[in-house]
Amino acid sequence: MKNIITKDYQEMSQLTARIIADEIKKKPNMAFAIPTGGTPIGTLQELVNIYNKEKLDFSKLKCFNIDEYVSLEKEHEQSYYYFLNHYLYQKTNISPSNTYVPNVFNDLEKECHDYEKIIQEHGNFDFILLGIGEDGHIGFNEPQALHQAYCHVQKLDQSTIEANSRFFEKKEEVPKHAITLGMATILKSKKIVLIANGKKKANVIKKLLSTQEINPLFPASFLLLHNDVTIICDQDAING
Ligand code: PGA
Repeated sequence: MKNIITKDYQEMSQLTARIIADEIKKKPNMAFAIPTGGTPIGTLQELVNIYNKEKLDFSKLKCFNIDEYVSLEKEHEQSYYYFLNHYLYQKTNISPSNTYVPNVFNDLEKECHDYEKIIQEHGNFDFILLGIGEDGHIGFNEPQALHQAYCHVQKLDQSTIEANSRFFEKKEEVPKHAITLGMATILKSKKIVLIANGKKKANVIKKLLSTQEINPLFPASFLLLHNDVTIICDQDAING
């Protein structure tokens, strides 16, 4: 695992956006899996800046949600489709027909199967950008003894619900389940970049950088199985 430490959140976001833009230049139709949450906002904003300043064409880019809350409509401000549409899709020439998200109002098992199939039809991801939870989750793959390899419905841990409640008016409004990519699909991505910032992530980043073994109770440790992972984090996420 390669580790890049930046001086702050802005530098982390600029560097990550630059890496993504370079990949888009190399392969304009790349399959790109994108996270949500607080961490990637700066990166997506910087990517939009590059798009505007450098007239980068995103029209062929294929964009995939890494996860989506069960029970939130696409139009709901806290849905993850809304997030990506708000921060990226509607600010660029990404074609709506090239954006993919599980439909959480269909039969969920069928939807997971179909989402997985679409990803495979695209030859799996060229690039996945990941955040990381304080408990080590990636996507919504929570610490648990048994992991599902492919797209599945995940019950969210209480700690994840607490962490995400900052985006909702009331904690009770945070959905209890989400559809998420599974570990196998994440690991089939050609490139993986994981970003983290802030003191709150210092423990989990320290654990990730020192981990030598795969532990299902520490989901990010599965990244040890991949040969092209870059962890980009700011000083606070390293020093606490
Ligand atoms: P955050 O979430 O970016 O809001 O910290 C990360 C995650 O839970 O994966």
